[in-house]
Amino acid sequence: MAKRWQNDLGAADITTEAVFMNRRAVLAGMAAGAAVGLTGTAAQAADAGAPNDWDDITSYCNYYEFGTGKDDPKKYAHTLTTTPWSIKIDGLVDRPGTYDLGQILDKMTIEQRIYRFRCVEAWSMVVPWDGFELADLLQMAGVKSDAKYVAFETVARREEMPGLRYPVLDWPYVEGLRLDEAMHPLTLMATGIYGKPMPNQNGAPIRLVVPWKYGFKSIKSIVRITLTDRQPPTAWNKANGREYGFYSNVNPTVDHPRWSQATERKLGGGLFSRRQPTLMFNGYDKEVSKLYAGMDLRKFY
Ligand code: MTE
Repeated sequence: MAKRWQNDLGAADITTEAVFMNRRAVLAGMAAGAAVGLTGTAAQAADAGAPNDWDDITSYCNYYEFGTGKDDPKKYAHTLTTTPWSIKIDGLVDRPGTYDLGQILDKMTIEQRIYRFRCVEAWSMVVPWDGFELADLLQMAGVKSDAKYVAFETVARREEMPGLRYPVLDWPYVEGLRLDEAMHPLTLMATGIYGKPMPNQNGAPIRLVVPWKYGFKSIKSIVRITLTDRQPPTAWNKANGREYGFYSNVNPTVDHPRWSQATERKLGGGLFSRRQPTLMFNGYDKEVSKLYAGMDLRKFY
């Protein structure tokens, strides 16, 4: 059996739940603090992690199916029906079919359902995800030897997702990984955060988390997984291929055409926190660099 991931981050590394769920207020508070000459009481209040109840917490989420406005996912994502939920697994697999999420979870052992790690979306944060390794799900379906890539698709329900009325992306949202990336023990299918079920705006009931890649690879509310021998299209690459490549590995040495990707600020670190250098592969160099041995990562961005 493949070696399972050993977590080296402890409780003290975790971004507090209030700060994570309240990212928008933290960021708005920091911007307001900066604008009024660093008096920043809003920012300080938010940084103190003032407890919020689950209903009034505001998330700084990207989930364009619910709109591109910063408040939209929080406002509209509750309309998404997440039970029952099934994932169609097809393409180059031995056992194609429609897998019920409840049954998938029932089949997983406790050791297969785990907690994790650091994520970067311009802000770094450490989120305790609840989920299982994608490899365990792919093994359930049986990967055929000619499969080379894994394609993912988000649910697209016009009646539940107001953002689908606007052609900001070519719906449904799609993503892809090379098979070895998908089988890596760091690649997680997440069903919860902070020990609670995944909030809708964060991709309920099941989403991808690839901690060494930029946030947009982490596709939400997955309904289809296809094993294929061709590199699959990805939503952001289709929308703007010059800015968003297939790999999208966190790489401080390759700038986005419109901004540097060399540094980050810790979410919840406070208004006065210093930017810190972003680490290659988001700090998972030791674990994943061998996947890209010999590849020019400027070309394969
Ligand atoms: N998945 C879907 N289906 N639709 C989206 O708009 N946004 C992506 C990614 N997954 C997105 C998505 C982007 S740009 C980011 S940064 C992360 O989700 C944000 O995840 P979070 O809101 O849980 O932090």
